[in-house]
Amino acid sequence: MEITGERVLTLEVLRIQGPGKLSGEISVHGAKNSTLPLLAASLLCKSEAVLHNCPLLSDVDTAVRILRTLGCRVRREGHTLTIDSSTLSGDEIPENLMREMRSSIVFLGAVVSRLGKARLSFPGGCELGPRPIDLHLAALRKMGLHIREDHGCLECSVPGRLRGCPISLSFPSVGATENVMLAAVCAEGSTILSNAAREPEICDLADFLNACGGRVSGAGESEIVIQGVESLGGCEHQVIPDRIVAATYLAAAAATGSELTLRHVDCSHLQLVLPVFEEAGCSLRSQGKSLWIQAPERLRPVGNVRTMPYPGFPTDAQAPVMAMACLADGTSLFVENIFESRYKHAGELMRLGARIKVEGRVAVVEGVPALSGAPVQAPDLRGGAALLVAGLGAQGTTLLSGLHHLDRGYEAVEKALASVGADIRRETA
Ligand code: EPZ
Repeated sequence: MEITGERVLTLEVLRIQGPGKLSGEISVHGAKNSTLPLLAASLLCKSEAVLHNCPLLSDVDTAVRILRTLGCRVRREGHTLTIDSSTLSGDEIPENLMREMRSSIVFLGAVVSRLGKARLSFPGGCELGPRPIDLHLAALRKMGLHIREDHGCLECSVPGRLRGCPISLSFPSVGATENVMLAAVCAEGSTILSNAAREPEICDLADFLNACGGRVSGAGESEIVIQGVESLGGCEHQVIPDRIVAATYLAAAAATGSELTLRHVDCSHLQLVLPVFEEAGCSLRSQGKSLWIQAPERLRPVGNVRTMPYPGFPTDAQAPVMAMACLADGTSLFVENIFESRYKHAGELMRLGARIKVEGRVAVVEGVPALSGAPVQAPDLRGGAALLVAGLGAQGTTLLSGLHHLDRGYEAVEKALASVGADIRRETA
């Protein structure tokens, strides 16, 4: 599926008939949050970049549309994207594409590095509370970029090349770290980035840049050193597996008391996630890139789940794990420390019979013996995943709408779940 023009929002719903046991194997697709910055990075390559394991997602389509708008040639064969940026000509990202996803902002560092200028508007994306880009802009300004903010537009230019310099982020923002890496990799001199984000997707980006001839060290640690090089060539690169998709399928297995095997998982990326499932009473076993889970008939509560920057518990897994905690025998506590407004799924889960109290950053989930199916709406991407998990575990029919959110991050989710026995199908409402 590739969407080439304006996105058309069809009124589709997932009809989920629960509860039913899942059994079998699901392959976890490539990470959305790696693919997007990697596509931005491909702008910097003077020869072709080949990215394998790119998921078929609407956000990836949006990134491809941005590349094409800027004059790059992009070819897709299955899960492989080949990007030829030698034809890059445009420096303007249209507002409709900027609004479609937050991570469109990571194109800024790459475009100004390559062309010395860029014009774009403020990005959109999931409404998770205020999502400023001040850290991105302050870091790029420090590297010599002139940024004029005018009527919601950013007019950016740099005379000559960007300059490497020491940059310290006040918060380890994933996007700001990526933007600095993309701006610095071909800048003049070295950039030392302190308090950098340490997510696996940052390491994936560094691996790609280095394979193209960049000199990036320290990714995965708090200090990243980027020695600017004249230019980057191309490379072939395999996108890492999506750790949040893996966590979501684990939550689906847990909420349905099932046994499931996930293929193409990197368990080292799930270090603070897997213990939460064990605490809930699930048995886990990993072998190579496979992860097996067996859930008990009734889950135990998950105690305290506090979202933190990596290697802490990921904010993106909070919603699906909360959905499974709704069915636990006892009370679980969630503290959301990354985004101000990331409990929108709580109200929708309550339509299914969940007992949740939210106060500011804290959500208290009192488990119930059973949820009951109802019409619900995905409030955002991971909130949609939470409702999917809850719907699978609920008695009766759940009609999940707002699928454009879910389609941003989960490739053919209903097919994957139906293949392991879930009674789920996509329908036009
Ligand atoms: C990335 O968003 C992910 N998106 C998000 O995934 C994820 O939730 C988030 O990191 C945290 O892990 C992509 O990788 C494409 P941040 P990003 O900059 O980069 C504040 C999903 O569901 N902040 O680390 O936008 C910000 O407001 C999504 O797949 C500033 O104050 O996250 C937030 O509170 C959604 N100023 C916190 O930092 C800035 O300039 C973390 O944001 C930048 C961020």
